[in-house]
Amino acid sequence: MAGGALLASRPGVRLLTHTAGACVCAEVGETMFEEKKEHEDLEKMPSEYRELLERVLTIQADCEIGGPHLYVKDILLTAPSKVNQLIVARTAAEEMDHYRKITRLAGEIGKDTSFLLSIPNQQRYLEAFRGVIKTWEDFSVFGFLIDRVGRYQLEEFLDCSYLPLQRILPEILKEEMGHIGFGTNQTAEIAAKGGESRERVQQSLNFWYTKALDMFGRTDSERSNRFCHWGLKRRSNSQARREFIKEVDPIITSMGLTVPDPVTGRKFL
Ligand SMILES: [Fe+2]
Ligand SMILES: [Fe+2]
Repeated sequence: MAGGALLASRPGVRLLTHTAGACVCAEVGETMFEEKKEHEDLEKMPSEYRELLERVLTIQADCEIGGPHLYVKDILLTAPSKVNQLIVARTAAEEMDHYRKITRLAGEIGKDTSFLLSIPNQQRYLEAFRGVIKTWEDFSVFGFLIDRVGRYQLEEFLDCSYLPLQRILPEILKEEMGHIGFGTNQTAEIAAKGGESRERVQQSLNFWYTKALDMFGRTDSERSNRFCHWGLKRRSNSQARREFIKEVDPIITSMGLTVPDPVTGRKFL
């Protein structure tokens, strides 16, 4: 599916507005670069474009491989059933494949991201990937919320100016939807048990909700504007965060759980 068609098919996804032939990044007000570039065009592009592309690919690669580093060691063989163990293994394999695909693109533009394979969790780019997941509740809510933020990050690139990045997205997004669906269902099932199970999953939700909102970055990020300017992203940090909140809060409520405070514990507002 072409990027635009996949974009338009996502509920709640707002396409960029076009005024007088110029594309404007929603909210940021930046006039967007409208051309599409292939790898061989990059040498003619300003260094800022190449640097932003390198940065976004490095962070994406880090997030892809950061997931398995969080949960494989403690969850793979302790998941509560044979099928769940298989799903953890498959999820990890898919994330490693996403890492491989993003790393290949980074390598093509001269950025070696192989160091991300083995760095300690504490050195991951995003706070959400710096700990360890030790419980099934945390693994479930991680899929429900953090893989969902991952989907938002990937959706930024659906109609982006760098075509090789756009091309690898449909398959990756399809697999992310599977991770999100599994995490959401598991979270709902645990909550529905009530009692201590519900309390434990609420605790996990409180922890990951804060991390998820912080993953979108600072509201006043100048770099976020430059990503929009070059057509590498289509939403500002704050716009994407608001859309995420609008999507997840009703799901949390429908599970009989309490929406956590959106400000407490946040590092990036
Ligand atoms: Fe992924
Ligand atoms: Fe995922």
